[in-house]
Amino acid sequence: MNKKTRDKDMDKFIDRLIKKMSLEEKVGQLNNPNSEGTDTTGAAEKVDIEEMIRRGQVGSTAGDNLEKRRALQELAVKEGPHGIPVVFAVDVNHGYKTIFPVSLGLSCTWDMMLIRKTARIAAAEATSEGICQTWSPMLDISHDARWGRVAEGSGEDPFLGAQIATAMVKGFQGDDLSRSDTLMATAKHFAGYGFAKGGRDYNTVDVSAYMMHNVILPPFRAAVKAKVGSIMVAFNDLAGVPATAYKEMLSGLLSKWGFKGDLVTDYTAIMELMNHGTAANLKEAAYLAFKSGISMDLVSEAFIRHLPELVREGRIREKEVDERCRLVLEKKYKLGLFDDPFRYLGGERRHDVLLSKAHRETARLAAAKSCVLLKNDNSILPLKKKDISIALVGPLADGDLARANMQGTWAVSANPRDSVTVMEGLRNVAGENVTIHYAKGANIVDNPDEAARLDVHNRDFPTAAIDERSPEDMIAEALAAAEKSDVIVACVGEAKEHSGESSTRTDIGLPGNQRKLLEALKKTGKPLVLVTMSGRPLSLEWEDQNADAILHAWFGGTEAGNAIADLLFGDKIPSGKLTMSFPRTVGQCPISYADPPTGRPREKTGIDVAGDGEKGKDGLNVFRKFTTACRLEGAHTPLYPFGYGLSYTTFDYGPVSANKTQLHGKKDVLRVSVAIKNAGPFAAEEIVQLYITDPVASMVRPARELKGFQTVMLQPGEEKQVTFEVTPELLKFYKPKSIDRPNRIWEEGDFIIHIGRNSEETQSLKVNWSKKPCAAATLAPC
Ligand code: BGC
Repeated sequence: MNKKTRDKDMDKFIDRLIKKMSLEEKVGQLNNPNSEGTDTTGAAEKVDIEEMIRRGQVGSTAGDNLEKRRALQELAVKEGPHGIPVVFAVDVNHGYKTIFPVSLGLSCTWDMMLIRKTARIAAAEATSEGICQTWSPMLDISHDARWGRVAEGSGEDPFLGAQIATAMVKGFQGDDLSRSDTLMATAKHFAGYGFAKGGRDYNTVDVSAYMMHNVILPPFRAAVKAKVGSIMVAFNDLAGVPATAYKEMLSGLLSKWGFKGDLVTDYTAIMELMNHGTAANLKEAAYLAFKSGISMDLVSEAFIRHLPELVREGRIREKEVDERCRLVLEKKYKLGLFDDPFRYLGGERRHDVLLSKAHRETARLAAAKSCVLLKNDNSILPLKKKDISIALVGPLADGDLARANMQGTWAVSANPRDSVTVMEGLRNVAGENVTIHYAKGANIVDNPDEAARLDVHNRDFPTAAIDERSPEDMIAEALAAAEKSDVIVACVGEAKEHSGESSTRTDIGLPGNQRKLLEALKKTGKPLVLVTMSGRPLSLEWEDQNADAILHAWFGGTEAGNAIADLLFGDKIPSGKLTMSFPRTVGQCPISYADPPTGRPREKTGIDVAGDGEKGKDGLNVFRKFTTACRLEGAHTPLYPFGYGLSYTTFDYGPVSANKTQLHGKKDVLRVSVAIKNAGPFAAEEIVQLYITDPVASMVRPARELKGFQTVMLQPGEEKQVTFEVTPELLKFYKPKSIDRPNRIWEEGDFIIHIGRNSEETQSLKVNWSKKPCAAATLAPC
């Protein structure tokens, strides 16, 4: 059936259904209660989900497992009004049972096909247990590593973020939502949540429309373009207006973009309008949220309690309720639930798909490609696969604690027992040919209060439990292991709940005693390889100065241990590049490669201070008085910039060339090329990056912006030409008149094109682009 006919049938079907529904039943569709009957913020009293379904008060809910979902659906179709089925919606973020790297890690692959495939797999697995909507992808751009939720997003860059948004939405939704193995996606959190003041979760956000449109919104636009079914609204307020009640953003901007799906609040966010201080009571909160465009109330129960009354009072028209109810019913129709309410609930596929061999293989590849090699002095990596003894130390190297942590935040449906530790990975890859001396060496944290906070959701499978041995004894064990070994591999980092929701840090170094462990290991003089794991950028200045190699592995998911072993032994070559800058110290947060030049850029103004000898990699003084490089303690640059990542091989970049340097009009195309040669011993991939600077514009523009990237695979000695096409589309930016009037423009003049291996190490070329098209008859080359 073609789309037009299907839409017509859908409209007729829903018209008929809505006519039969009472006001209360229509409002009931706009409700998503917590099926477990509990909530974390105290909005709803104990929920009796069965009774609510009977009364027609459940549009969607999580349902705890397949059996429970099936039973709830039975109830809905047999005893609920008009037999309207329920949507089961859960957070399926970076995998369902087969867990992929946390999204920030996954973004470091820069591999859209792979990212899309991970979402496809997550959809296939989650739907096999009755879930048909996910509260994912999370599209919040953030420049602040203190904010724990950076783990859930794709880093600091809107251009990359937009591509990942498209890949994720297409992966989850496929081409046909009614297929029993596709999930409806929910783009979240709309919008600005990643700019919470001070990186403190839930905190106020005050950004301009300029920042909104150029930095924060591009991934959401991309998701809407990719036809995302649903959008979740952010918790935060935006310059004084809570996002949940921001009409210009919700009904205004989103409808301008052509978004026709349903708009869900975040968890208890309508109730929270009272805490924000913009609603005196739940009824007013319901009114504000509804009037702003919300169609699904997550857990506040504000709509079911107050919308009927608001309609009777004439403050809300019943027609408006009909329109919102239509959005929810359309969702159910598109998911195929009216054809077959049990479409996702048969459970037949689960044994074939959950944690299948193919899924685990993709997880292993994704985990390897997400790792970023930060340092590798004297090519200490890869390690030999035989005749070598390894001291494998650190709290994240082995055991149940490591197993649970490597799944990362929001792996809510997965079983920690399914993940492979680094110890197991080393064994799987190298067999008995290497000797491994294992010692835990340190706890992740030593403060029992902090451990309890980190394990708030993990009582059965602790992630931060404190060892009975004293810290000194643990270090002594690690030293004994090191003494017997040729090389130390230390798996250190955060616990998984150091990042994620409600997990703000004001120190982003290795937590607990782990630095002390490394200091002791360093003193042995043995080569020291670090495998660092976290859900955020860490400050690793000491580690950078003291370790021989650092492989940043994020939280790599189910297959993390195997993937890390693949890289350590060189079965795979690291190719990941950072999608978020790693600051030297937390005080540099927020930080981004794209930060504007300011009025006092280091290159143009300022003075070097006599007697100050500290130089950066570029040979220039790191501190320059009267410029933005005025961090007294040292360099103002990040330790590892956006786009950074090493390989075991080396890539030589030839000179950058262009087809022309004078361009005319909007149809002209600039082709910039560079030859890349693999000058090292391993076949490997390199992610070549293109940045653009607009040095003179009517607005302050970013220092540079990512506008293209290409991954090339090169055999040793092989050389390939990489060419980027630049059109005026890539020169455009938003100069908004207000939040709902974006105004996208480009301005003629000079542009600097940069190509390179990361956002700092680039070669540049200046071009001029005038708006006047070339006269067709002109003889001069144009
Ligand atoms: C989070 C959302 C999540 C929701 C439902 C909220 O606390 O902010 O990202 O989707 O809970 O689990």
